[in-house]
Amino acid sequence: MNDVSRAAALLRAGELVAFPTETVYGLGADARNAQAIARIFAAKGRPADHPLIVHLPDASHLDRWAVDIPEAARRLAAAFWPGPLTLILKRHADVLDAITGGQDTVGLRVPNHPLALQLLREFGGTSGGGLAAPSANRFGHVSPTTAEHVREELGDSVALILDGGPCAVGIESTILDLSAGEPRILRPGMLDAAAIGKVLGLVPAFGGRSDAPRVSGSLEAHYAPHTSLQLVVAAELAARARRELAAGRRVAVLSSPPLDFDHENLVWRAAGADPDQFAHDLYARLRELDALACDLILVAIPPPDDAWRAVADRLRRAAAGSK
Ligand code: TXA
Ligand code: MG
Repeated sequence: MNDVSRAAALLRAGELVAFPTETVYGLGADARNAQAIARIFAAKGRPADHPLIVHLPDASHLDRWAVDIPEAARRLAAAFWPGPLTLILKRHADVLDAITGGQDTVGLRVPNHPLALQLLREFGGTSGGGLAAPSANRFGHVSPTTAEHVREELGDSVALILDGGPCAVGIESTILDLSAGEPRILRPGMLDAAAIGKVLGLVPAFGGRSDAPRVSGSLEAHYAPHTSLQLVVAAELAARARRELAAGRRVAVLSSPPLDFDHENLVWRAAGADPDQFAHDLYARLRELDALACDLILVAIPPPDDAWRAVADRLRRAAAGSK
């Protein structure tokens, strides 16, 4: 039996399987099995009222999971699935409360990774099943972008980790709420508002409505490394690093370009020069720098353009969540 078939069999038996997607690795469970879902929350240490995204083999499965699906959702699915876009829609009555956090909506996406798609087809292609899969990290920690990261985070609590190499995108999917009123982006991702706007015919606004469901990714203390992470205006990065070093601290710097000086207590790592590369490398770099146990990690604040929005969002949360 190959790994994908083994993974599908384990999932049918109610076990957890971690699998690669184009964004980050997911911790998968049978979305129709309440006990398997409970295992996800236990493995992650995640509060039970946080809803999970259901991953589907293709858009033809939408109607099994959602009702009152707007035309816009079909157009977006046709344009961007498989891809890094999660659609929030009105839930089908059959969807478990454990998936939706008891809300009347459900998050759905078709991930763009060959192994994930193989697994989804083998698991749910004919039965109509889907996989609930949050990012495969402990709650509040940095999302994993390699199989090795998943092992570090969750180790024994998963039956199998499918290794699909490093994730191409590197940060989590864009979450778009189409469940009521005007479309809104609840979580920015590398699929940006302009691209969505071209298909929708209007550029979606950011942030939830006041009565909107809670998104755990919108908690400030999220995506955080253990080491204190501080954001610094790019032009002041070198001066700030020098000050910290002069005060006897061990400093890690994530930036592009490199600092123009060396110091025995300074570690520099390259950040991507453009948003795609930055997102691709971000979580892996944060893990590397975190493992050095420096006193702090300094990162340059990205430019205030839309293209950097998702990266800036994750950095802000990492800074807010670190001590
Ligand atoms: O890229 C991704 O989306 C990755 C990969 C594995 O697909 N998954 C991911 O899942 O980031 P997770 O659970 O770490 O984050 C999903 C976010 C959470 O913040 C959750 O609150 C939100 O999606 N969410 C899920 N269902 C929702 C719903 N019905 N309404 C509002 N937010 C929802
Ligand atoms: Mg997550």
